[in-house]
Amino acid sequence: MGTSTKVLVIGAGGQIGIELCEALNKLYGSENVIASDIKPIDALSNNPFEQLDVLNSVKLNEIIQKYRITDVYLLAALLSATAEKNPSYAWKLNMEGLFNVLELAKEKHIQKVFWPSSIAVFGPTTPKVNTPQYTVMDPNTVYGISKLAGERWCEWYAQKHQVDVRSIRYPGLIGWKSQPGGGTTDYAVHIFYDALQKGHYTCFLREDTMLPMMHIEDAVRATIELMHTPSEKITIRSSYNLAAMSFTPQQLAEKIQNYLPNFKIDYQIDFRQNIADSWPQSIDDSYARRDWGWKEFYDLDKLVQNMLENIRKKLNGK
Ligand code: SER
Repeated sequence: MGTSTKVLVIGAGGQIGIELCEALNKLYGSENVIASDIKPIDALSNNPFEQLDVLNSVKLNEIIQKYRITDVYLLAALLSATAEKNPSYAWKLNMEGLFNVLELAKEKHIQKVFWPSSIAVFGPTTPKVNTPQYTVMDPNTVYGISKLAGERWCEWYAQKHQVDVRSIRYPGLIGWKSQPGGGTTDYAVHIFYDALQKGHYTCFLREDTMLPMMHIEDAVRATIELMHTPSEKITIRSSYNLAAMSFTPQQLAEKIQNYLPNFKIDYQIDFRQNIADSWPQSIDDSYARRDWGWKEFYDLDKLVQNMLENIRKKLNGK
């Protein structure tokens, strides 16, 4: 990627999009990072903005031509909890959006594609501890099925049509700049706001639900590092396992109590428990470490400190 890189981020107003655009702005300049979303975005006021439904392939193509886009980051999707409630739309959005972008790459209208997959590609009979890159994959959620199918299509387009598509199976992502929406791991962001504002959080997952998690700054850095890796080093064109830490709601609450001793957590589990129970507890990401030198910065202690510090400042208007 040289100075002529022009990026389109689709779904730029979401949890990952906002942070990714800010990081891309630093690399390429905000005039070269086109933000698009189905609805207007309050943040990212320095970026050119295009309102786009990724299902509208004609408009997508117009935007690609208008800005001479080289790289597309396709983040528009329904996440795990929302997808269970609206299966047919989730399937349509998650799959057709990907096809629209991969087809443009096949026709060489764009050079490079980033598309996120998820730990949701694994299922109830996948080994749960240190889940390998290559293992049983039997997702039983709409979201997981769409991500697994998407991975297979990415690999197919890469092999059959030399499409330069790159992907990461993100764990639950935690950051203070933007809010998640519709996911099963969202509790790990909401807990910090409620801890600071109410001193109390009611968690929708059971206290012992261990899930893989990551600070969103690490996830964004991983994404950019993967996109800058020479193509020949990328041995996986489906999607890379990626890990930083794993914890349960109880363990997270205990860490928060080190800073806020009066913080209390209780539990009211809902349908998201079944989703979480079908996912891995920890991930073996040795291919990412070997192929492109992945290493996380944030562990659980650093993450809790960073979240509390920044959300406190944000709530105080600083
Ligand atoms: N964090 C996502 C979710 O909970 C998983 O990719 O849906």
